[in-house]
Amino acid sequence: MSVVLAFDQGTTSSRAIVFNHAGSILGVAQREFAQHYPASGWVEHDANEIWESQLAVAREAMVTCKVTADEVAAIGIANQRETTVLWDRASGQPVHNAIVWQDRRTAGFCDSLREAGHTEIVQQKTGLLIDSYFCASKLRWLLDNVPGARERATHGELAFGTIDSWLFWNLTGGRLHAIDISNASRTMLLNIETGDWDDDLLDLFQIPRSVLPDVFPSSHLYGETSSALFGKPIKIGGAAGDQQAALFGQNCTEVGMAKNTYGTGCFMLMNVGSKPLRSRCKLLTSIACTTASQRQYALEGSIFIAGAIVQWLRDGLGIIDSSSEIEPLAASVDDSDGVYLVPALAGLGAPHWDAYARGTIVGLSRGTTRAHIARAALEGIAFQVADVADAMTEDANRPIDQLKVDGGAAANDLLMQFQADILQAPVIRPKVIETTALGAAYLAGLSSGFWKSIAEIGKVWHVDRTFEPIMSKDEASHRRTRWNDALGRAKSWEE
Ligand code: G3P
Repeated sequence: MSVVLAFDQGTTSSRAIVFNHAGSILGVAQREFAQHYPASGWVEHDANEIWESQLAVAREAMVTCKVTADEVAAIGIANQRETTVLWDRASGQPVHNAIVWQDRRTAGFCDSLREAGHTEIVQQKTGLLIDSYFCASKLRWLLDNVPGARERATHGELAFGTIDSWLFWNLTGGRLHAIDISNASRTMLLNIETGDWDDDLLDLFQIPRSVLPDVFPSSHLYGETSSALFGKPIKIGGAAGDQQAALFGQNCTEVGMAKNTYGTGCFMLMNVGSKPLRSRCKLLTSIACTTASQRQYALEGSIFIAGAIVQWLRDGLGIIDSSSEIEPLAASVDDSDGVYLVPALAGLGAPHWDAYARGTIVGLSRGTTRAHIARAALEGIAFQVADVADAMTEDANRPIDQLKVDGGAAANDLLMQFQADILQAPVIRPKVIETTALGAAYLAGLSSGFWKSIAEIGKVWHVDRTFEPIMSKDEASHRRTRWNDALGRAKSWEE
């Protein structure tokens, strides 16, 4: 057995990556799929398209590196989290499009739960803040709005799952209805202390137990694929929500270790150890990747707009033609010349949670050029990450002494240097920045014996570059004060 096959089923594309024992990438394939926006604030995916694209890229990745099913020790899955699928157990067909994590259709219902005073008990049991982001209200919506669904669910005819569950079901030809515990911890139906579905939450969201999958550790032998799919059965050795997978892929397996993924938004997670730490600073607590013998928890801060601000400079403002122009343009000036850009285009996420904040540029002068705005945009990403880092430091009562980074914008040296300066802590970029897929590979590799231990996979992870802070402490603190002033102007803007 020479490789593991990782699925990275994300919000906009399905990818598959083949890793060898040294953790190097042998083959990659990727396919985008359609986003559906049936109404304002609604976002849906065709679950069949997700499955078909994931299967296609898995086969393609194997072909690109000439790997056969015999040589694959196991498959590991990392997936977009919270996206909710409900399907018919008999036909295996979804009863509705999947409702994507970004979908806001249940925001009103979530407001009513908060107004009715359920915030504390929900946070206590799930580690989450009541929001339409999570599965529970989406699943309730499906049961109430798809004709006949509630009744059929009560009779045990329907199955619910997150994307890992949906892939397990299809990979095994409907033999497996399961969910990994890190994904389950994002449903808002799981008690993160017991690791089991919670009856009070099921009552609150009116979810019948009969639709729920069985919960297993992230690194676990879930079963085998149907032989027809890859010529021969392949073991399914693990799954995790993509952000928890990235935390694991960055080897953040000890308390206090943190990573940030720079994508469209940013997801910063810190390992907080074997006990769930409830946030006082509006962060989320979730279950991190688990093995049969070990459960760990993570604190998480989600930032809505990060790389997306670069897309806006390109498509909205038109000051660059391609995203790759941002770094040389921003580097063509020494600093932002007092310009601050708060990228609150979709409100502010953690730790501010202000849905009414809006994007703001302050400090413009006659001397301001597009280069200063480009630089301020990149700096705005780093300032937001620093705000989450502060909240984590306070919650966890320990400083973030280094931050591991991944995702597309982690390749931007200017941004990484500024991140280190503003955090006043080293920023560490690994050689493989596909850490989401690498985390999924680790999970599958551990359960199948491809890698023997967490210590062994630690040797597979290598640093590409460490960015040490070069800005003085005083200067960093001055800039953060100015950022906070700009933030104050962006907050609660929308009437
Ligand atoms: O919580 C949502 C997150 O899992 C989505 O990640 O990488 O698909 O945008 P991504």
